[in-house]
Amino acid sequence: MLQRPRRNRKSEVIRQMVQETHVSAANLIFPLFIVDGTFQKSEVASMPGIYRYSIDNLLREIESCMKLGLKSFDLFPNIDEALKDKFATESHREESLYLRAIREVKKNFPEACVITDVAMDPYSSDGHDGIVENGEILNDETLEILGKMALAHAQCGADIIAPSDMMDGRVGYIRKVLDDNKFTNVSIMSYSAKYASAFYGPFRDALNSAPKFGDKKTYQMNPANQREALIEATLDESEGADFLMVKPALPYLDVIKLIKDNTELPVAAYNVSGEYAMIKAAIQKGWLNEQRAITEVLTSIRRAGATAILTYHAKEVLENKWL
Ligand code: PBG
Repeated sequence: MLQRPRRNRKSEVIRQMVQETHVSAANLIFPLFIVDGTFQKSEVASMPGIYRYSIDNLLREIESCMKLGLKSFDLFPNIDEALKDKFATESHREESLYLRAIREVKKNFPEACVITDVAMDPYSSDGHDGIVENGEILNDETLEILGKMALAHAQCGADIIAPSDMMDGRVGYIRKVLDDNKFTNVSIMSYSAKYASAFYGPFRDALNSAPKFGDKKTYQMNPANQREALIEATLDESEGADFLMVKPALPYLDVIKLIKDNTELPVAAYNVSGEYAMIKAAIQKGWLNEQRAITEVLTSIRRAGATAILTYHAKEVLENKWL
């Protein structure tokens, strides 16, 4: 035998020497849930170890992440049901929970990277990502609200705006609103290929943001489709996106790879709530080794081609020095 691939696996030193993929703190983005009030820290039942924080505790949490070298955060608000309406007005109200949170985080941690979510669902009384009329989710009519939301986030200091509703023309419209208002340096991370997935369940529990009727299949993609992801990614790139995101991550590694191979832009992958819940449940039952399962997941997502990973595991992998 001339070739014995095992020779390159014979010791830890050689295995590390030939390792092709690494995950580091710089690649990780930590999603954080925010609630109103003070001294709040409530665990999401389906996401052990993940909490909804009031702004005071959010700042403490971010401080402890920063010390670990984790410096990018994607913020999501849990909005009081009484503040929701058909037009998501709360999403661009100056003193809203979310806008206060962005301002506070950037004031206290100017060097942190704050990513903000632009979609109507956490603020919509219909629980949908767009304006609803006679059971239909409107595309173009929703743009004006998203523009106001994105502009408000930029004014509060957001570094990256992430339009997440998977409807048409979002990136181009938001880019124009930002540029017209002199926010040419605010980036856009587009949810380019976001699938109508079962794996968002725990997130909707965390934010109480599930649709009040129907599903999201007229805007989020069919899990069976791969080529359609290229149409979406190409459009977002031509409209001015700075990052292209695939979501969820683990069941869509082929899509991450496909987009990676077809763009020069950095690709992000969102290792979503249901992926986290699945791993944690198995670990709680003693069925998986925690460190090995989690690092394997993150490494696989990087190997598929993701530059950045949005993941609820971000803090624990650094705290436990698993990377
Ligand atoms: C909403 C949004 C969702 C997630 C991020 N932004 C849920 C949805 O589309 O219903 C899911 C994130 C996760 O599951 O971790 N625009």
